[in-house]
Amino acid sequence: MVAQVIDGKAFAAKVRAQVADQVAKLKEENGITPGLAVVLVGEDPASQVYVRSKGKMTVEVGMNSYEHKLDVDTSEADLLALIDKLNNDPAVHGILVQLPLPKHLDEDLVINSIDPAKDVDGFHISNVGLLGTGQKSMVPCTPLGCLMMLREHHGSLSGMDAVVIGRSNIVGKPMAQLLLGDSCTVTIAHSRTKDLPDVVRRADIVVAAVGRPEMVPGEWIKEGATVIDVGINRIDAPEKGTNEDGSVKTRLVGDVHYASASTRAGAITPVPGGVGPMTIACLLANTLTACSRAN
Ligand code: GUN
Repeated sequence: MVAQVIDGKAFAAKVRAQVADQVAKLKEENGITPGLAVVLVGEDPASQVYVRSKGKMTVEVGMNSYEHKLDVDTSEADLLALIDKLNNDPAVHGILVQLPLPKHLDEDLVINSIDPAKDVDGFHISNVGLLGTGQKSMVPCTPLGCLMMLREHHGSLSGMDAVVIGRSNIVGKPMAQLLLGDSCTVTIAHSRTKDLPDVVRRADIVVAAVGRPEMVPGEWIKEGATVIDVGINRIDAPEKGTNEDGSVKTRLVGDVHYASASTRAGAITPVPGGVGPMTIACLLANTLTACSRAN
């Protein structure tokens, strides 16, 4: 079997176009422009890339983008003061604090200081509780993007065996909640799981979110299963040669070994071009939702 490639890039473009239509309608009918504030503390290169990309896409769908770049040694009090200001700013409908934060800042405290109605990441403890009890909430963007791709591919997920590999608060746990909400039988696997290959072999749906390059080989995948690869890992690619400074070129790979998995899976998301673009599209969709609920 050769897996169907789930084209997250194309699907994300469709979602962004729908968001842009709704944004234009909001402006025309109500004179409101949704606004997303992104807060970046420090100069982590990967975070800088993500934040730039988020800002660009926000503007592309017609929303206002407010970027707040703070020094790496910003105090907790100053960061909380900024969040308080954004919570009370009617032009700001969504607030995202880019993670990870520098070590001296308490991540839980900072996230829980965001107004839950503006928490477009869905990380605030109120949103976590609402999602866990099946109530209307802000849903974390990466798992929401994965769910949208699964629904698009399968229609109903009811009764399917799903394995989520990884138990992070950002992806693994909310992913499991969403799959449970769609009536899957859900297993959350992690570093202490006994006989992970056997657990994965039972699954109709595999969501890999551990951040370890190519750790899931194709032999673990059940024939015809759907594989959603959340991992974005940079590895050395000596076959591509060297850079001008003599360092080895690199390439991006997922948590799943794509070449072998795509000979067994029924459908699979590529890296790059799978989950990544959907995450940002869902962030924009969440900002629109936050704005619509506020007005
Ligand atoms: N860092 C890595 N992923 C995310 C995300 O989805 N949201 C935020 N705020 N930070 C992240």
